[in-house]
Amino acid sequence: MRVLIATSSRHGSTREIGQWLSSSLTDALQNSGVSATVEVRDAADVDSIAEYDAVIIGSAVYMGRWLRGARSLVARQQPELEARPVWLFSSGPIGAAGKPSAPSAMDKASWAVEHRVFGGKFDLSTLSWFERLVVRLIRADEGDDRSREEIDGWARSIGATLAESEPTVPTLP
Ligand SMILES: Cc1cc2nc3c(=O)[nH]c(=O)nc-3n(C[C@H](O)[C@H](O)[C@H](O)COP(=O)(O)O)c2cc1C
Repeated sequence: MRVLIATSSRHGSTREIGQWLSSSLTDALQNSGVSATVEVRDAADVDSIAEYDAVIIGSAVYMGRWLRGARSLVARQQPELEARPVWLFSSGPIGAAGKPSAPSAMDKASWAVEHRVFGGKFDLSTLSWFERLVVRLIRADEGDDRSREEIDGWARSIGATLAESEPTVPTLP
């Protein structure tokens, strides 16, 4: 089984969620006896998803929207996405100001198994002056609201769903 995790990230924290998902999903599939490879790629670099059996697409949320790379992957690969299991995630809200809410366009993705919203992360020192202005206006607090435990739990539940649909490889005693 080949699984693609495609992410769009501006400052790296959503890419890191993709890597965490990959490591937990690989373990979960291995523990279930499923032979699988899990690849993490930048959504903008993915030309085709035809060779994957399942896909996870995630994006950071900026000004209420997914980043262009992830939006464009979804638009380009719509028929292929509808033909296989797909999970979506958004990473965005930070601090008390950030109430988890999925960006509306992806809420309408009825073809996806599920859309999760994870907390986000930002470090003021890495932001442009414009980004700093925006976070001041939306009163977002600097910090890291990503929960590794929550992300690992989601990966395990995806692994369980995929394992149900896949023939298992018997493990030697
Ligand atoms: C300029 C700016 C705008 C943002 N707008 C939103 C937003 O509209 N909704 C949201 O939930 N998070 C918003 N965030 C928080 C980011 O989504 C969060 O920091 C995310 O983890 C960044 O991911 P990245 O490191 O992969 O780029 C914003 C952050 C910045 C710096």
